[in-house]
Amino acid sequence: MCGITGYIGKKGNAIKTVMDGLVALEYRGYDSAGICYKDKDKLITIKEQGKIANLKSKLDFNVKSNLAIGHTRWATHGEPSKVNSHPHSSNKFTIVHNGIIENYMELKEELLKNGYSFKSTTDTEIAVAYIDYIYKKEKDILKTLNKVTNIFRGSYALGIICEDDLDSLYALRKTSPLIIARGKDENYIASDVPAILKYTNKYILLDDYEIAKITYQNIEIYDKDLNLINKDTLEFEGTYESSIKGGFEHFMLKEINEEPTVFENTINNYIDENFKNIPDLSKYKNIHIVACGSAYHVGLIGKHLIEKFAKIPVYVEIASEYRYKYNFYDKDTLVILVSQSGETADTLACLRLVKEKGIDTLSIVNVVGSSIARESKYVMYTKAGCEIAVATTKAYLSQLTVFAVITMYLTNKILKTEIEKIPSLLKNIINEDYKYLAEQIHNNKNIFFIGRGIDYYLCMEGSLKLKEISYINSVAYQAGELKHGTISLIDKETPVIAISTDKDLREKTISNIKEVKARGAKVIFITNEDIDGDFYDYKIIIPKLNEILQPILVIPTLQLLAYEVAKLNNCDIDKPRNLAKSVTVE
Ligand code: G6P
Repeated sequence: MCGITGYIGKKGNAIKTVMDGLVALEYRGYDSAGICYKDKDKLITIKEQGKIANLKSKLDFNVKSNLAIGHTRWATHGEPSKVNSHPHSSNKFTIVHNGIIENYMELKEELLKNGYSFKSTTDTEIAVAYIDYIYKKEKDILKTLNKVTNIFRGSYALGIICEDDLDSLYALRKTSPLIIARGKDENYIASDVPAILKYTNKYILLDDYEIAKITYQNIEIYDKDLNLINKDTLEFEGTYESSIKGGFEHFMLKEINEEPTVFENTINNYIDENFKNIPDLSKYKNIHIVACGSAYHVGLIGKHLIEKFAKIPVYVEIASEYRYKYNFYDKDTLVILVSQSGETADTLACLRLVKEKGIDTLSIVNVVGSSIARESKYVMYTKAGCEIAVATTKAYLSQLTVFAVITMYLTNKILKTEIEKIPSLLKNIINEDYKYLAEQIHNNKNIFFIGRGIDYYLCMEGSLKLKEISYINSVAYQAGELKHGTISLIDKETPVIAISTDKDLREKTISNIKEVKARGAKVIFITNEDIDGDFYDYKIIIPKLNEILQPILVIPTLQLLAYEVAKLNNCDIDKPRNLAKSVTVE
């Protein structure tokens, strides 16, 4: 999703710093990029559609500049194009914007009546014009920005430059994340920490309705009543190196290779000789799990484990559905929000909705200090570190780990011996060669994943990974349900990836595999026992573990299979088309 960077400093390298920041945010997904910088007393704006490299080729990096804002845009209002790219300007103001101003049509009408005209179809151009419109009356930048926070509806993080004060950079936010970072004689703004890690790891989190006025020496933060406030400066634990590829061809591959360490870091945060850092979850009689994308798939596995082993009913729902439907709560309900970024707009909205009803919330989040983490009653951090590839891998595995921890906690049993084995088992699984399997399926247009119970939930994630990065249509089906329709799509050589780790359901699943095999399917059988038979073409054996921990060993195979298929098909693995890492709009 869109990225913001901004710089104010003495060194005169604003253009390079802002562009470095945009490159670091490339992983979030975008379709155009732009920059506005101060050249002597003038503001210059340059924008380009497509990759950041297009924009870079138009820039003169020798220009000494002390102030700049940059943006990568992921189109929401208006097609991806140069004219719709940010920054947008109106008279004295230039802004970059993440999020959506929902009442922009209303504001546009008012502005049109007052003589404004527009070139783009974006809500951002309306926002900057509206800021200019208010400023003409208020004649004070802070008062103007404070006023618009009460007028703009929706979500926004804004980086703002005003020609009347070119010694300052302004920023404000509501719902969309924004940080202000501290350097020496230079300060920065960014929508995500990796953007500033090359220069500093010290930052302040801006909260909703707060406004920052930043000079090269000072960071002033104002609250919603325009009182100057003190905010803590945080230090990011990771390093710049952790946010670069480190010798791997893709971030996705690097991140899969980090999974053994991620597992250890996450489990060690919650278990030593005993459980630690875990809120009292045993008091809840029913649980809702709410999330989007892969985090939702983790939630389904969480439901399976908690219901089967802890015997607590669990309801799982996609956040964009949950927030608009009638939900049943009582005083014994716990709502668990799962999110890598901690900023996903729909998941955040669900958290706020549930809190308003006085229901307890627990978030399982990777990004420390993110909105979901800060606003929920309890938080259990996943220790996946900085995840850059759009398709989540190590963060998903760390979320699985937290649900395994929760299940062990609720059943009061630590599977110590098995836990100790996992890092080296994961290493072996990750080091296997999946290319030969990818070669069997990468030219197909449709691929099926089938399984029952917990294996079906793993299929859902395997299928999503494949779709996301290889653009091959794939669908996950409950193995027993195929014959009620979907089996008509199975043809000669149609790849079917069948997962069977649940011993109790194995015979049933094998019967279903035979049904597709009989219709000519090419079957890749993933299992945790060496079973012979003529119902598969290829077999992958995963080491057997207790069911609570077993999914952790299955998922890297599915991730690597998707990776190898995407690589054979020359896809943009780390930045798949149309996708964004952190979806901060509804
Ligand atoms: C986007 C990403 C997915 C991710 C989902 C939820 O769609 O592309 O990989 O699973 O958002 O993100 P979250 O940060 O809330 O886990």
